[in-house]
Amino acid sequence: MKKIFITRKLPEEAVAGLRELFDVDMWHSEDEIPPKDVLVEKAKTVHALWTNVADTVDRDVIQAGENLEVIANLAVGYNNIDIEAAKERGLTVTNTPGVLTETTADLAFTLMLAAARQTGQAERFLREGKWTSWSPMGFTGMDIFGATLGIVGMGRIGEGVARRAAGFDMEVLYHNRTRKTEAESMFGFRYAELDDLLSKSDFVVVLTPLTDETRGMIGERELGLMKETAVLVNAARGGIVDEDALYEALKNGQIWAAGLDVFEGEPIGSDHKLLTLPNVTALPHIGSASVKTRLAMMRMNSEDIEAVLSGREPENRVV
Ligand code: DGY
Repeated sequence: MKKIFITRKLPEEAVAGLRELFDVDMWHSEDEIPPKDVLVEKAKTVHALWTNVADTVDRDVIQAGENLEVIANLAVGYNNIDIEAAKERGLTVTNTPGVLTETTADLAFTLMLAAARQTGQAERFLREGKWTSWSPMGFTGMDIFGATLGIVGMGRIGEGVARRAAGFDMEVLYHNRTRKTEAESMFGFRYAELDDLLSKSDFVVVLTPLTDETRGMIGERELGLMKETAVLVNAARGGIVDEDALYEALKNGQIWAAGLDVFEGEPIGSDHKLLTLPNVTALPHIGSASVKTRLAMMRMNSEDIEAVLSGREPENRVV
């Protein structure tokens, strides 16, 4: 019987189908990551690894997997996997595109609203018993309605955010490796060079994948181009935004606020320096976290694992 190692405890309904066909070994915890030596040990004996964004599936893990046929990653992003090493070994890597688009776009929009209107900060203030009276300029934020939105990385999630922005009467600029001319005319958003987008936008939302090309793409120079009233949202990957530069820009009032769902080294501790800033709204990488979407992502992974281990082509092949 072929073997599968699942690196996180998943709901039983998501694994039941695989259990009927394969020998499934599931990590005991939902929140704890299996250490590297465990991952390497498990890789030695299994035919499939079912991983997620928190697992570092590097060359050591991949090379250990003598019988390994497939790595299914519970995410659309796969920067946590050494794709070159997987290709060299002829492994199949699958992901979960499409199904999380709207949920992640919802979260990116949530961060825009929350950071612009300081809802996290205001809620903490209330819970701490500091609300003594209505205040004329207390917690005054930035308007979203009618503002200019710049989307960096116009893939499916970017388009989802742009569609939502239409309801807020926003002007939408985007920057992407390739022009989306059809979507431009359909939804009325405009292409802009990155510098132009940064200097014109009231909200900059980062949604590009993390690659060698995009690592550190938003650094000191780029933040310096943004408006002092601008809000930066990152719902993609931490490494795209230089966190030291972001900290300085937020601290010195070079930009107004940030809404972050992702960080360079996840998970971050409560002592992370960005969390010391009142103008940061921070979330623990929950972009795709709705019940329906997470179960749908699991279904996709499970079907793809079953397909590969049964000699069929998976639906969502990365390589
Ligand atoms: C993704 O799918 O890449 C998300 O970041 C994981 O929730």
